[in-house]
Amino acid sequence: MDLYLAPLAEITSKEFRVLCYQGGADICYSEMISAKAVTLKNRKTILLAQIEESEQKTYLQFFGGDPDTMKEAVTIILEKVKPYGIDINAGCPVRKVVAQKAGSALMDDPVQLGKIVKAVRSVTDLPLSVKIRKGFKTPNYLNCAMEVQDMGADMLIVHPRLRTEMFMGVSDHTVSIELANIMKIPVIHSGDVKTPADLDKFRDSNIKGIMIGRGALGAPWVFDVLKGNKVSDERKKQMMTEHFRYYLNIKDVKFGHTMFRRHASWYSTGLRGSSEFRNMIFSPKTDIETAKSRTMEFFGVDL
Ligand SMILES: Cc1cc2nc3c(=O)[nH]c(=O)nc-3n(C[C@H](O)[C@H](O)[C@H](O)COP(=O)(O)O)c2cc1C
Repeated sequence: MDLYLAPLAEITSKEFRVLCYQGGADICYSEMISAKAVTLKNRKTILLAQIEESEQKTYLQFFGGDPDTMKEAVTIILEKVKPYGIDINAGCPVRKVVAQKAGSALMDDPVQLGKIVKAVRSVTDLPLSVKIRKGFKTPNYLNCAMEVQDMGADMLIVHPRLRTEMFMGVSDHTVSIELANIMKIPVIHSGDVKTPADLDKFRDSNIKGIMIGRGALGAPWVFDVLKGNKVSDERKKQMMTEHFRYYLNIKDVKFGHTMFRRHASWYSTGLRGSSEFRNMIFSPKTDIETAKSRTMEFFGVDL
């Protein structure tokens, strides 16, 4: 079973993906990219589609509710970058996205979802995946999955929660297993896999891959752990050092410092003193120099 890094808005940047490949990920997904913003030539959005040379198999994920806009956005990006594949987001629960009849709103409109798949399919032969939810307010995954397959997608990713469930509770992995039993295209499960025991639920199923989202936060090495490979503390320190240094030195200083604090907090999860560390790192009273020196002390790294 291949292990995938899930698309996570503002998180699965090219730098984070490179770390996840180093940590054992087989395939990575970009954060979602607004098709509309790409067609309006928004510079920041277009930068989200950048891919590092060392990235082996990265899918770029697009969201939008209009087939022509999606098609145009994918065409614009493919003139600039060469991803391994393209993904269509039919799962985002965020109000701003749903208001555009995109993301999880498409779960209530399989025909429109199919039109989007067909439109994107018409402009690329690259592997094309679609990431769905269980439904919007009520389950509609069977209709959506069949439409996606009929319109030419190569792979289906299932995050089996309703939109109304947002990220609450535990996702219903039986939905992914059910779909994997009936679909012709490969089915990937996304939701609540963090430990080898979580993976065991899928061992005897037809699921072809597992996506890890929140389990990779503060642990880009989670893929190696899930594969049964030992990851030394030295290796972990090396990876987090690279990550911290990147955010402390990027051009967009404000964004870099925010992301440094967020990732430092995630890396502290489960370590002794992590709640005090988190309070300190997010306190408005903690300036960046203090945050940096306390992070060096806490993790024993050199920044
Ligand atoms: C902070 C955050 C950002 C997310 N951003 C996206 C996104 O851009 N595109 C997408 O398809 N799913 C997104 N998701 C959903 C995840 O890809 C994944 O399906 C979900 O978190 C369940 O997997 P997990 O339990 O492994 O995190 C996001 C989830 C979180 C928590």
